[in-house]
Amino acid sequence: MRTLLYNIKELIQVREHLNNKFLKGQEMKTLPSIKNAWLLIEDGKISNYGSMEDMPTIAYEQQVDLSGKMVLPSWVDSHTHLVYAGNREQEFVDRINGLTYEEIAKKGGGIINSAKKLQETSEDQLYKEAAARLEEVIKMGTGAIEIKSGYGLTTEAELKILRVIKRLKENYPISIKSTFLAAHAVPKSFHNSKAYVEHIIKDMLPVVAKEKLADYIDIFCEKGYFTVEDTKNILEAGAAVGLQGKVHVNQFNAIGGIQESVKQNALSVDHLEIMQEEDYNTLKGTQTMPVALPSCSLFIGIPYAPARKIIDKGLPLALATDYNPGTTPSGNMNFVVSLACIKMKLTPEEAINAATINAAYAMGVSDTLGSITKNKKANLIITDKIPSYGFLPYSFGNNHIDQIILDGKFITY
Ligand code: NIG
Ligand code: FE
Repeated sequence: MRTLLYNIKELIQVREHLNNKFLKGQEMKTLPSIKNAWLLIEDGKISNYGSMEDMPTIAYEQQVDLSGKMVLPSWVDSHTHLVYAGNREQEFVDRINGLTYEEIAKKGGGIINSAKKLQETSEDQLYKEAAARLEEVIKMGTGAIEIKSGYGLTTEAELKILRVIKRLKENYPISIKSTFLAAHAVPKSFHNSKAYVEHIIKDMLPVVAKEKLADYIDIFCEKGYFTVEDTKNILEAGAAVGLQGKVHVNQFNAIGGIQESVKQNALSVDHLEIMQEEDYNTLKGTQTMPVALPSCSLFIGIPYAPARKIIDKGLPLALATDYNPGTTPSGNMNFVVSLACIKMKLTPEEAINAATINAAYAMGVSDTLGSITKNKKANLIITDKIPSYGFLPYSFGNNHIDQIILDGKFITY
């Protein structure tokens, strides 16, 4: 099946010769595009594209006139906790009334609250709720998504989440990666994080590895949750069964999680709201992608990751939603791109690079997604009639997506 998109006002993020798999520092300022363009999709992939001025004769089965509309690669959301049971509106109200995230967690709310609900929810119900969220984010332009476990905290419940993610992978055209995050909070039945980490490594991880239920491994390295030593142990155990790290670090405190993650060759370090000078130096020249989550900062009222400084120091940066019931009950990448411009002072070019090509690196899919490149998957956003791509983040909170293409097919839900 060949589909020709023609009269595209602007084809955005066109990259045939990428020297590296991600962009860093100054490189993020440029967003290559072709104005007045065409693009041919063949068997679910981008087979060719160019300017309307020198369009060759092309054979196709379907053609779509996109006059006035723009085309860009789908958003890549490299950090979500999309599989969860129920919501936490009460904690939202508690925060409005003055409690902090940490205070709410201490009185039994937070991750432990979500885990209790999830343990009581059947796998089918969990799948239904997660599938509805997945369809919702697909409609908002997300064409690849990483989903973590971590609201189970028992072997049974963690496996339940990972099996739900596996079913989502099988049933939806969006690219999905699965991350094992049993080390998300210490259940009450364990005396300390060390004992729980031992249980994860001894009892849970072998099953996850044997059933091939995860692509990556994660841990919440934070005061009151898991130590740097726990992080070392989890990442080493993950590596031993072929799972690379994508690690929650520096959300509330800088305790050395970045140093340990880089040492263990983590694919990404995520959150980074609290950064120390040495953290930038540690990341420099490594293959570990810093990931910022601005909608989490907005929702729970914590500092924004110093994304401007990260880029100005010559580092790469990716953006993700962190979609979860506690700190970010939203999977809207359009809004994340806007927030990065408004609150982190990224330019539209930097924010779009961070949410596409760099985000694809942060979840290990940059060979197939994240840019308009021949042979990459045709996972595309078609905008409605907009004056410029800068209008997308500028016009925050509004929806300017006209149609979505995944694997070369128009999405109808
Ligand atoms: O990434 N920080 C750790 N985990 C989630 C939030 C967990 C929750 O409150 O449910 C996050 O923000
Ligand atoms: Fe998270």
